[in-house]
This record gives sequence, structure tokens and C-alpha cells, in this order.
Amino acid sequence: MLERAEEILRQIEKSAERSYLPIIGPLRGRALAKLVAQFKPKRVLEVGTLIGYSTILIGKELGSDAEIVTIEIRREKAEAARKNIEKAEIKPKVQVIVGDASDVIPRLKGRFDLVFLDGHKSEYLKHLKMIENKLHRGSVVVADNAGAFAYSMRDYLNYVRNSGRYESHFIQLGEDGLEVSVKL
Ligand SMILES: C[S@@+](CC[C@H](N)C(=O)[O-])C[C@H]1O[C@@H](n2cnc3c(N)ncnc32)[C@H](O)[C@@H]1O
Repeated sequence: MLERAEEILRQIEKSAERSYLPIIGPLRGRALAKLVAQFKPKRVLEVGTLIGYSTILIGKELGSDAEIVTIEIRREKAEAARKNIEKAEIKPKVQVIVGDASDVIPRLKGRFDLVFLDGHKSEYLKHLKMIENKLHRGSVVVADNAGAFAYSMRDYLNYVRNSGRYESHFIQLGEDGLEVSVKL
């Protein structure tokens, strides 16, 4: 069954190369999948679905008792994501919400065990602060592009590293990387 997910991931990688879609890609994607396998979250929130590549990567590490809520501002991308996610036959329940994360996050109920931030880099801190009351001790926040776009998310990196609210570290992957922050 997960072979289907791998197939869809390879298809998206090819189309992303052709159309310059900013997916997380195989290198940082493998690191993200490893974190998901390590932390085994039951509820995941993703900001920035695009066409579902990272959602599928996360989902293929989880079982049918897990749930992923993913937010995408561009309707046509969200529609493409829904199709890709369905074709990938991953086990968790996935809810793709169309809208601006700043409007959607306050309406979300319950708490999240893992958050993947991959929308506009300059909005990471705003989104994290909106999500913070839905985290618990041990929740993990993974921020993409924390190497190549560190300059656009300086406020975010400063907050997770120095606020005393997170244990945070950077994973370098090629020219870029992930910032992984565990809520204290
Ligand atoms: C880098 S792409 C996401 C890539 C995707 N996570 C992956 O790895 O396959 C960023 C996406 O975030 C979306 N986005 C940007 N700002 C947003 C916001 N405020 N709320 C929701 N989605 C947003 C963009 O439309 C775009 O599709």
C-alpha cells in the first residue's frame, strides 16, 4: 500500500522539477520523515500544503489512528493536494483546509503533537504564536528552510532558540536545513 505513496512522491518530484514547485524534496523530506517516525505524533498540523508532497511524506510514517490537518491558501493547489493525497493511499485521516493560516489556526480545535511550518518564511513566528496554545510539553515544531532562508525567519529562529519555551536545534541538510523545536 505504501508503495503507492512512494510512487506519488516520485511523480510529484518530477513535476516539481519541471514546474519549479518549492516542495521540501527528498533530502530534507527524508529528515522530516525520520522525525515523524521518531516522535510518532497522533495529530499533525501543517502550514503550506502546496500539492501534498510533504503531507504524504508525513502521512506514510503514521497509522490510521493519526490525523493530519494541513492548510493551504491557494485553492487550486489545495485541490491538487487532495487528489495526490487520495491517490497515495496513506493511512491517517487528512483534512486539507483552504485559507490563510492566520484565519484558520484560531478556529482549530484540540492540540497538536507535531507542527510542520512551510508557508511564508516571514510568517513562521506569527503562526507559531497562534499555534502555541495548541501545543503541549513535548510537541515538536519543524520549520523548513531554516538554513537557506534563515535571514527571512530571523525573528522565528531567535524566538525558538532563546525564549526558553523550546529546546531547539538546526539540522543542516545540503545548503539548507530544518529547525526542530521541542516545546518545554
Ligand atoms: C514551500 S510551499 C509548501 C511546500 C510543501 N510543504 C511541500 O514540501 O510539499 C509553501 C506553500 O505555503 C502556502 N502558503 C503561504 N502562505 C500561507 C498562509 N498564510 N496560509 C496558508 N498557506 C500559505 C503557499 O501557497 C505555498 O503553497
